[in-house]
Amino acid sequence: MKKAKIKIGILGFGSRGVSLVQPLLDSGTDVEIKWIIDTDIKQSKFFFSHWFFNPDNENNKYCHPKVNFVKSFSEVDRNEIDALLLTASEKVRTDLFEEALSFNVPVFMEKALSNSLEGCNKILTAFRAKADAKVFMGFNLRYNPLTEEVKKIIKRGDIGKPLFIHYLEKLREAHGASYYRRLSGRLEHEQGGMFITKSCHDFDLVNYLIDDRPEKIFASCKKVLFGLGGENARKNCHECDRAFECEHEMTKVMNKREDLKYYNDLYIGESPANSRGYVPDNCVYKESLLTDMNNLIAEYRGGLRLNYAQILFAAKPGREIGIFGTHGSLQYNLNDQELKVNTRWNASEYNVKANNISGNHGGADPRIMKAFTDMVRSKGESPSRIEDGAWALVMGYAGYRSSASETWVDVNEMAKEAGIKEK
Ligand SMILES: NC(=O)c1ccc[n+]([C@@H]2O[C@H](COP(=O)([O-])OP(=O)(O)OC[C@H]3O[C@@H](n4cnc5c(N)ncnc54)[C@H](O)[C@@H]3O)[C@@H](O)[C@H]2O)c1
Repeated sequence: MKKAKIKIGILGFGSRGVSLVQPLLDSGTDVEIKWIIDTDIKQSKFFFSHWFFNPDNENNKYCHPKVNFVKSFSEVDRNEIDALLLTASEKVRTDLFEEALSFNVPVFMEKALSNSLEGCNKILTAFRAKADAKVFMGFNLRYNPLTEEVKKIIKRGDIGKPLFIHYLEKLREAHGASYYRRLSGRLEHEQGGMFITKSCHDFDLVNYLIDDRPEKIFASCKKVLFGLGGENARKNCHECDRAFECEHEMTKVMNKREDLKYYNDLYIGESPANSRGYVPDNCVYKESLLTDMNNLIAEYRGGLRLNYAQILFAAKPGREIGIFGTHGSLQYNLNDQELKVNTRWNASEYNVKANNISGNHGGADPRIMKAFTDMVRSKGESPSRIEDGAWALVMGYAGYRSSASETWVDVNEMAKEAGIKEK
């Protein structure tokens, strides 16, 4: 007998919500996008028809009988939903998490888990109060094809016990600048800073690969290029008197005519996105609290040391990762499809190639949607737990506390503050 389609609801239909629709449809599981829950219905409909298909076309196979665009959970028919994706900002997801659990369906929780330690505590308390709640943390780096290979190599013992990890996250300059352009102001209050909204992926990846938790953290965050203020800083791009000489002027960053058209349709003049004041048009040099060079050292319970750095101004993007163990080491760039393993005394050296998989985030998005919908179908346990999200968040806040105080921070103390109960 043919299985019924999984009826999906998506809370928060901005960049992330939109970007998960195609991976869901491509996941190989029969799904139906049934509810788009976003306070801005005009924008939701605009995005839907721009990126996918006209939602009012009843003949469309993906949205039959039709997608319902609603503003809040209260308008969702609880008998007509099998799974929820929470893809609004960290703050909105924290505020609405308990209500999301009341639907009694599996929940996909975007990273980062929350925008504060109190928020994390609130989420974990709500989760524990609901014994059968199923929450899948959206750490898509775990679903990068190379990650699977690294996990296997470590498990086989090819490099022995991991003792040291070098991890450099490099954001291409235009990507780094986009955080200042889009999110300056909002990031600190709604999404946390870079250690929270971005590095949580990396912290989780390390915790996942070595299956351990950090004990103490030292960090230092600094602004070196963007957000410094000064005489060349302005309010935004479209009113700027220096646009002709600025390499970050918005229209110069767009290298395709269609991207520019999309930008103009969406953000300039009377447009859906403008109606909520979301315009990625801030001057990237305007004074900001965001930092573009972030370093963090973590000492783990099992003795491993992580040396993490994140820069927002690289010419080429990537994550350079080196794992050094008692019997060998492995090194790779997560953006490539290959890693190199060297064993002790140069006894052997081999390369591992990952299967080339298409899709957003190096093929990780379709795979994470497949894993989530498999969990929904099988009613199995979540492979990516809410506590994993809490630990990644705590590492980020420990980093900020350390950077502000210029001292080592006890992570276990902060884990208690965040409501983490597991040892
Ligand atoms: N895993 C990844 O690779 C990845 C990538 C990008 C973003 N993200 C995460 O996704 C989240 C959203 O980021 P974004 O860039 O899509 O932001 P966004 O601002 O583009 O989208 C947020 C959406 O939420 C809606 N919204 C606001 N308040 C709401 C409410 N009360 N109820 C329902 N909808 C509401 C807004 O109208 C907007 O459409 C963030 O937490 C971010 O960290 C994850």
